[in-house]
Amino acid sequence: MNEKSAKILIIDDDDEIRYSLARVLQRRDFEVIEAGSGEDGIKVAVKEIPDIIFLDNRMGGMSGLETLQHLMGERDSFHVIMMTAYGTTQTAIEAMKFGAFDYIMKPFDMDKVLSLIDAVMEAKADRESTEDYEPLLNSDDYKEGIVGSSQPMQEVFKQIGQLAASEVTILITGESGTGKELIAKAVYQHSLRSGGPYIAVNCAAIPENLIESELFGHEKGSFTGAAQMRKGKFELCDGGTIFLDEIGDMELSTQTKVLRVLQEGEIQRVGGSDTIKVNVRLVAATNKNLEKMVGKKAFREDLYYRLNVARIRLPNLHERSDDIPELIDFMLQRLVKQNKGKVKRISSDVHNLLKRYPWPGNVRELENVVNRASVIAQGDTILLKDLPPEIHEWATKNHIDLRSGNGGPSTDVGGFAAKSSDEVIVESISGSNTTQSAYDQLYTNLRSENAEGILGLIEKAMIERSLTETGGNQVKTAAILGITRATLRKRIELYKEEA
Ligand SMILES: Nc1ncnc2c1ncn2[C@@H]1O[C@H](COP(=O)(O)OP(=O)(O)OP(=O)(O)O)[C@@H](O)[C@H]1O
Ligand SMILES: [Mg+2]
Repeated sequence: MNEKSAKILIIDDDDEIRYSLARVLQRRDFEVIEAGSGEDGIKVAVKEIPDIIFLDNRMGGMSGLETLQHLMGERDSFHVIMMTAYGTTQTAIEAMKFGAFDYIMKPFDMDKVLSLIDAVMEAKADRESTEDYEPLLNSDDYKEGIVGSSQPMQEVFKQIGQLAASEVTILITGESGTGKELIAKAVYQHSLRSGGPYIAVNCAAIPENLIESELFGHEKGSFTGAAQMRKGKFELCDGGTIFLDEIGDMELSTQTKVLRVLQEGEIQRVGGSDTIKVNVRLVAATNKNLEKMVGKKAFREDLYYRLNVARIRLPNLHERSDDIPELIDFMLQRLVKQNKGKVKRISSDVHNLLKRYPWPGNVRELENVVNRASVIAQGDTILLKDLPPEIHEWATKNHIDLRSGNGGPSTDVGGFAAKSSDEVIVESISGSNTTQSAYDQLYTNLRSENAEGILGLIEKAMIERSLTETGGNQVKTAAILGITRATLRKRIELYKEEA
């Protein structure tokens, strides 16, 4: 790699950050140039043509996104890495959409910075022509619709930004309630077809005998009750995007017809013999395991491969529990805006409990809990008593100390709640690592296909989790894990050493 010769421009209005990043990079023999504003940065970039541009998102004067747009307007081969202290949905999507190479959160992990530089240099080496991303109409109307500053969701937003403007078929997978429908809509809103129609069809909700007529339409008299010719969704959606939700529930015979639309771009109405050309982009979603279904011949293999061209996997809420406070905040604010509630915050006990609850129903379940609690709550704060029985039962079963905050002050959701005693126990095993960060690390490893150490991570996460649940009781923890107490102690010692 010719990274030594890379010329790097840092655009940030914070002198200290610019200076310290510059120093670290210079020490590694990179040629570094700096600019203290977006306006300046553009001038310097045009003159110097750096290989890589690190661009701050929040700056006085021209914002990072504006600067990014100008830069890409000047030269679409610029490789820009956005830097931000706040991982908002909007910025991540917009940044990728406007052609940023990647997106990095402050404070920096230097290894990440260096691997990004490597990645840029590699990309530059083997790819000269990059595709243009047209800035689309305003996407403001959905600005507040999706929450997610956690790492796994940021990855999802990046994928949306990268895939939306292309015409590829997208398959969205994830458990029930993870937000598949929301993401499908976001893909559409950020695509070049955003001015065209968007039609969502829930394949599971339409009776088997009606689905084909629904999708492809029917000719007059083609079956009992077909008194008039009717156009189907594909035909109505010409020039637009069709969202086939719950596609795993589609009959094999219907799958064959959908495959034909994808391959030939044409349909036939039920009972008709004319072929009708349609130009439709397909986005599909399912919470089923399509690979398994293909194995059992319950889903067509050829359709599966067609759908799976680009895939967005939505993480379970449990894998992104960092998003929970923000989600609650967002949901409460929305209720207030809709005049459906007066609740502005949750107590710190509630906060602690909701962050730990495993959320089998994902975001939808959280939404139900928040809606219900805000109706029940008497003042402007949600208290433990406002939570549904299943959460209380879970807490009791798992020995969660509900009154961890000792009735301490309630926190605004965005803020930090007081730590409960069992969280402190977990932290003492592994430095500052909590259960969640072990999962995050595991997930990152899986994604980078770096399988090394995964078993250790799983073991550590399991031990941490069960310690949390037993309130640090080693006898109970060993019983849950099916290991002896001595083994448990050895493991704890080991992880302490590693921390
Ligand atoms: N990241 C998010 N930010 C805000 N709201 C969200 C988010 N994800 C999901 N929601 C909300 O949670 C609810 C469930 O989302 P959605 O219907 O998209 O889930 P789904 O994955 O399609 O579930 P299913 O498989 O059961 O159909 C919706 O009301 C949605 O608005
Ligand atoms: Mg859905």
